[in-house]
Amino acid sequence: MAYELKDLVDLDRYPIDDLDGAGAALLQSCQDDLANGAICHLPDFVRPEAIEVIQSEANARRDQTYWMDVERRAYSWRNPDDYPAGHAVTLTTPNLIGTITQDCFPKTGAFVSIFEQQALTDFVRRCLNRDSLFPVACPYLAANVKVMSQGCRHAWHFDQNDGAVTLMIQSAAEGGHFEFVPFLRDEDDENYDEVSRLLSGEEMPMRRAPLAPGSFCLFGGRRSIHRVSEVTQGSPDRLLAVFSYHHVPEHQYRESTIRSVLGRLPDSYPNPG
Ligand SMILES: [Fe+2]
Repeated sequence: MAYELKDLVDLDRYPIDDLDGAGAALLQSCQDDLANGAICHLPDFVRPEAIEVIQSEANARRDQTYWMDVERRAYSWRNPDDYPAGHAVTLTTPNLIGTITQDCFPKTGAFVSIFEQQALTDFVRRCLNRDSLFPVACPYLAANVKVMSQGCRHAWHFDQNDGAVTLMIQSAAEGGHFEFVPFLRDEDDENYDEVSRLLSGEEMPMRRAPLAPGSFCLFGGRRSIHRVSEVTQGSPDRLLAVFSYHHVPEHQYRESTIRSVLGRLPDSYPNPG
């Protein structure tokens, strides 16, 4: 059975198939939330029956997870050698997280089907005020699932671009909270002192998004530092879908990008040459 939009998304509450009519107010409030607070969180966006199917699809592939255990810097696009020791750009925090790649999932399953809904791409595009937006075509990372079991954490960092798109599939038994400080930096004021305090573990006011299974979330992470706090108890583990888009169609990620996410190339990656 092929999944249709109405099987996957609660269209009564979130009429994303009618953004110039019944969904106009929704679109406006999503744009406002992103502009004012860097986050647009839509609880129960995916129907409970559909999220259950996606949960079982992901849990069934748990042993195909690629694990990454690294110290991570907050500014992936900056060279730490250009900065003095102890500067915010040079500081790292622990990062332990797993990824299940898209090619592991059935092409007509609920997980891949929701990512491929044209109405969802259009909704994301308009929320982010983009002229063009297309699903990335990488068979591994276009849609992937982040796995966080006990002891996992996603380090503090800024994204290189705004517009991270995620779907919460399953919450951890304890911990694994998405936390962020809205608009901590911008191009005119890097605010390195505050970032250093945060990365050094000082207590600072931060926001926590109450993501729950079915939550769809758009996030502006270029100026807003963010992390996922440690999962203090797994089973169930935290499972989060990441959906990737690009302004040109059929975009493929470079080999180095795939390596940096998975720690190595996938088993099924074609041999070069
Ligand atoms: Fe991020």
